[in-house]
Amino acid sequence: MSFIDEIEKRRTFGIISHPDAGKTTLTEKLLLFGGAIQEAGAVKSNKIKKGATSDFMEIERQRGISVATSVLAFNYKGKKINILDTPGHKDFAEDTFRTLTAVDSVIVVIDVAKGVEEQTEKLVEVCRMRSIPMLVFINKLDREGKDAFDLMDEVEQKLGLTVTPLSFPIGMGYDFQGIYNIWEKNINLFSGDSRKDIEDTIAFEDVNNPELDEIIGEKPATRLREELELISEVYPAFDRQAYLDGKLQPVFFGSALNNFGVRELLDCFIQIAPTPRPKESDTRLVKPDEKKFSGFVFKIHANMDPKHRDRLAFVKIVSGTFERNKPYLHVRHNKNLKFSSPNAFFAEKKEIVDISYPGDIVGLHDTGNFKIGDTLTEGENMSFKGIPSFSPEHFRYINNADPMKAKQLEKGIDQLMDEGVAQLFTLEMNNRKVIGTVGALQYEVIQYRLEHEYGAKCSYEQFPAYKACWVKPDDPKSEEFAEFCRIKQKFMARDKFGQLVFLADSEFSIQMAQQKYPSVKLFYTSEFE
Ligand code: G4P
Repeated sequence: MSFIDEIEKRRTFGIISHPDAGKTTLTEKLLLFGGAIQEAGAVKSNKIKKGATSDFMEIERQRGISVATSVLAFNYKGKKINILDTPGHKDFAEDTFRTLTAVDSVIVVIDVAKGVEEQTEKLVEVCRMRSIPMLVFINKLDREGKDAFDLMDEVEQKLGLTVTPLSFPIGMGYDFQGIYNIWEKNINLFSGDSRKDIEDTIAFEDVNNPELDEIIGEKPATRLREELELISEVYPAFDRQAYLDGKLQPVFFGSALNNFGVRELLDCFIQIAPTPRPKESDTRLVKPDEKKFSGFVFKIHANMDPKHRDRLAFVKIVSGTFERNKPYLHVRHNKNLKFSSPNAFFAEKKEIVDISYPGDIVGLHDTGNFKIGDTLTEGENMSFKGIPSFSPEHFRYINNADPMKAKQLEKGIDQLMDEGVAQLFTLEMNNRKVIGTVGALQYEVIQYRLEHEYGAKCSYEQFPAYKACWVKPDDPKSEEFAEFCRIKQKFMARDKFGQLVFLADSEFSIQMAQQKYPSVKLFYTSEFE
């Protein structure tokens, strides 16, 4: 197969949802279609069950599972599908944001009864800002839920999307009979039996055909005709380019648990979803079909074996081919590295591969060379953009609780921050270290891992910050900037890349600073150019 065919064949995407909407179930059903797994229950949920926040064994178990399910790949109808797993728990939202930098499209799962939930809103906003193509799957149709039109309104209003249904339910809840597939023009009747033949659909080109009344009953048929007419009047027709540009989001309805409407979603997905997309670097736009390899690290995972402190760095291939044992330039270190055992992922397994293509993810064993966001190339000096740090929500001083283990603590903190578990800020005034996280759970994870992986002990102390603002003065030599730094001395810190950060203690102090020092620009993410 030619290099171009290999690229054309790949679909790399993520599934995002609020916890419990059905992401894990849908992933599993997709894998079943690919024949990658044989039975349901093979994909373990990596969500942290409610109430388990202090259960460290649970956290460890979850970490083990999340390595295994980081990338799930399978072949389906001549396409190679890579699903990148995104943690659902909100305390790990930053991990999900970073994974979204490596996907070419996403599927958004929404619970028909709960509608748009908080976590979905946040994740979709990130995708919308990056114009990532999105498909919406409304799940749990076997249950009593909201009206389909109301739900689509809610999706448009709360998520800021423009939707167009490509399938539509026939009845809802107790009256649910199945779906009419607008995309394929057929009817799929719901039997509640997930083992039912997946191809068991009734081709139905024209809903005005009176046969419809015989199949689903007179009343439901009339209603469906009316609803489909309304759809064609109210919603824009599907336009692939608009979808690819992130301007139009097709909607499918189904029930992942019952494996219902999933085949329709997948078949449409492989036809319309984008092949690997070009990516912007600091010097130019890099296209997948360029001959020379380039890629970037979007995730780092500590190895589960405490005796070997190596880690797995997940690299998304942007262009060219990645080959085993070939030297590549680690741009930030300006040094060549070779990888003798790059891992590729298939279903829930990983295996060593000789060659990988754009859209693929390779897992590289790393002994501490990589940070999230690092770029690898075939020699070109450029770095991919778009993996910013977001302002944490929680801040605490971290103290050494065992003076004999200062070195271990430092190394542990350093490596955990490279993995992206949390962010470290070093105060300008006294060099004290402050850890910023998205959720309180991370503090427990850090403490536990420092002790068990690095033999170091830490304690925390509250630090009264509200948000981290990355600072960019119009003129670094100006009197205004000098005064800002002097007045805010106690709150000035450096992030792990040495960038200046203002750890503001309230929204009010941010506003005051902006008014008083207009030439000093403040940003909530680390990437602001
Ligand atoms: P998540 O990864 O998005 O957090 O959700 P997950 O797939 O784990 O699904 C959450 C719950 O919703 C699970 O039930 C799952 O069985 C159920 N579910 C998923 N799809 C459907 C569907 O189409 N219809 C119905 N009725 N339920 C669905 P649970 O009881 O929390 O977990 P489990 O014990 O079944 O694993």
